Amino acid sequence: MTKLFEPITVRGLTARNRIWIAPMCQYSCENKDGIANTWHMVHLGSRAIGGAGVIICEATSVSPEGRISPWDTGIWNEDQVLAWQPINKFIKEHGALSAIQLAHAGRKASIFRAWSGDGAMTETDGGWQPVSATAEAFPEYNTPHELSTEEVYQMIDSWVSAAERSVRAGFDMVEIHAAHGYLVHQFLSPLTNQRSDEFGGSAENRARFLVEMVKRMRAVIGEMPILIRFSATDYQEGGFTVADCAEVARWCYEAGADLFDISSGGIIAGVKIPVGPGYQVPLSKELAEELEAPVTTVGLITSSEQAERILQETEIDVIMIGRLSLRDPYWPLRAAHELGVEIDYWPNQYVRGTYPSD
Ligand SMILES: Cc1cc2nc3c(=O)[nH]c(=O)nc-3n(C[C@H](O)[C@H](O)[C@H](O)COP(=O)(O)O)c2cc1C
Repeated sequence: MTKLFEPITVRGLTARNRIWIAPMCQYSCENKDGIANTWHMVHLGSRAIGGAGVIICEATSVSPEGRISPWDTGIWNEDQVLAWQPINKFIKEHGALSAIQLAHAGRKASIFRAWSGDGAMTETDGGWQPVSATAEAFPEYNTPHELSTEEVYQMIDSWVSAAERSVRAGFDMVEIHAAHGYLVHQFLSPLTNQRSDEFGGSAENRARFLVEMVKRMRAVIGEMPILIRFSATDYQEGGFTVADCAEVARWCYEAGADLFDISSGGIIAGVKIPVGPGYQVPLSKELAEELEAPVTTVGLITSSEQAERILQETEIDVIMIGRLSLRDPYWPLRAAHELGVEIDYWPNQYVRGTYPSD
């Protein structure tokens, strides 16, 4: 048996393998209403048929102004809850678990999707003023409104309500998007948080927004696993570091989080990210050694042999794939064949297509 195809249990919930689909925005709510539709059903459903262990659905905003673009999915109302239900039912009928990535873009909100325009969307374009921990804009984006202390508490309420809706929408897990320079990361990083209230200053204060959110979510979602995606480094002097990430992850674990999904970058423009095969593995490896909770890795993992080797040679628990899965939605089935693993979750309809027979 390989490690890749060994099941893994997180807070009592077992995923059939350790190939998980990374969250990927589809920008496909054509009505700009945040309601998932047939695109999401076919896109996510294909990856369940394709044998993934867990499918992390795209960054889904907890409130309208938290969307990266007007075409993002949302979970701030009941129509959105209803739309996710059949999608989650389908994913689960095909043996995968479904996670939602709860998100708020903060000062990186209100931009065009790549195929509809370029850069920031002004109010005349149908965009809006973003909100953030800071009043400083991300280069060439709209200038945000700095949330008052009271508004930060209201923002935590929005995240907690979105988590509660996610339970009713039929998700198995929630992931908090605390990476890539979006709102939670804007609180965590000293580069974007110069606040003087209880949400700024010390490391503990900068983490308060996230830790409070985790505590309150844990109280309303029962035993549903909580995942957190971090950018483990800002790649910039004076920014958030792997050591900071380990400390914040420990606080989150104590507050009720279960697994840490490690990514990097995104808080400021112009930094050099050392992109290459498995480029974020060293970050995940270090955190997996530091933390009690399971840790995942993602980023240019493109072969079954590479994926298996990462799990064999480190304490990392799970591999996530993003772009590979866009090219090849059934890649987990292919990887099982390549590694000589017999799996019993080829869809019945597709058994005649299994690799070894002809
Ligand atoms: C089309 C696309 C959309 C993405 N959307 C998200 C997202 O919604 N949330 C997120 O945390 N990362 C997002 N990412 C980053 C991926 O989850 C992943 O971390 C990154 O692509 C590196 O993994 P890969 O080399 O396997 O693609 C996106 C990436 C792509 C290609």
